[in-house]
Amino acid sequence: MTRCLVTGGAGFIGSTLTDRLLAEGHEVDVVDDLSTGSLANLAEARSSGGRFRFHHLDIGAPDFHELVARRRPEVVFHLAAQASVPVSVARPLFDAEVNVLGTLRVLEAARSAKVQKVVYAASGGTLYGEPDAEDLPIAEHQPHGPLSPYGVSKMAPIDYMVTYRRLHGLEFTALALANVYGPRQDPHGESGVVAIFAERLVRNEPCVIFGDGEDTRDYVYVDDVVDAFARAARRGGGLVLNIGTGLQTSTNRLYGVLAAAAGSRLAPQRGPARPGDVRCNALDPDRASIHLGWKPWTPLEDGVAAVIASVRGRVGASR
Ligand SMILES: NC(=O)c1ccc[n+]([C@@H]2O[C@H](COP(=O)([O-])OP(=O)(O)OC[C@H]3O[C@@H](n4cnc5c(N)ncnc54)[C@H](O)[C@@H]3O)[C@@H](O)[C@H]2O)c1
Repeated sequence: MTRCLVTGGAGFIGSTLTDRLLAEGHEVDVVDDLSTGSLANLAEARSSGGRFRFHHLDIGAPDFHELVARRRPEVVFHLAAQASVPVSVARPLFDAEVNVLGTLRVLEAARSAKVQKVVYAASGGTLYGEPDAEDLPIAEHQPHGPLSPYGVSKMAPIDYMVTYRRLHGLEFTALALANVYGPRQDPHGESGVVAIFAERLVRNEPCVIFGDGEDTRDYVYVDDVVDAFARAARRGGGLVLNIGTGLQTSTNRLYGVLAAAAGSRLAPQRGPARPGDVRCNALDPDRASIHLGWKPWTPLEDGVAAVIASVRGRVGASR
């Protein structure tokens, strides 16, 4: 049994990771300021008894350092972040405060409490900027070139982690996540197209596809992603590892898969292309396979069916 601390553990990915760690028998402390996360995501975790503790706390607060010193986790999974690209464009100082300084505070707390390892949720969708078509799927040796303040604020912590490893011996693995989807993803933000489309289709409301719909993304299912986090607790030290499927899925195809799963015949509406959107993206998962023994195993159709089932349960319950 390992004592773990999950920052951002009330969020979409963090709460799914918390459930997984508890199911494996670990002790889990969750730190979350509930700015975008929700206690409802932790309903399952809270029923698991004494091995789970929730701390309503900002990673930027002095109490956070004190908490890490007191709880002395062996592994810190750092997922707390300002996770919206548009917010980062509108409020770059706030974005950097949470994502850059916040991560530095996590590293400082981890170093003083002699934490063995930090596993970091990096952003593979923004880290490499706009890749050339011939470089897809993108491997980790490709140059970094984020196009938004969010991309920069999620990239900078990787350099700090490399430096902390060298200076202080604090081990880390940075998982560069593709487009994660699954139950619990917030359908009310601007990103998370699977959650947004699923919610609208189940409510029989039309979805808008921006541009020609032939832009592509790499959709990776949340259970596969948290499996990579769990593996990275013990493996992949000092590395950035892509966590994606390597497959490109166009928005048009994604819509088709979601509409089929929802049993909807609604045609999508079309809107203007959004400036700043990356055209095509997919991440090569080979390095994660070598160093973590990790592979994505959930086909898009299965993952999407799980999302539709969960939205149906929620929407049905609220009616
Ligand atoms: N969802 C994706 O496709 C994706 C892709 C790449 C990287 N990521 C990264 O994965 C992580 C989790 O993303 P998510 O999609 O679950 O987002 P989310 O918004 O659901 O989770 C983030 C959590 O962090 C919490 N938080 C924010 N600021 C905090 C602070 N100062 N102190 C404490 N808690 C704070 C929020 O309340 C929320 O619960 C983020 O670091 C994000 O950048 C996500």
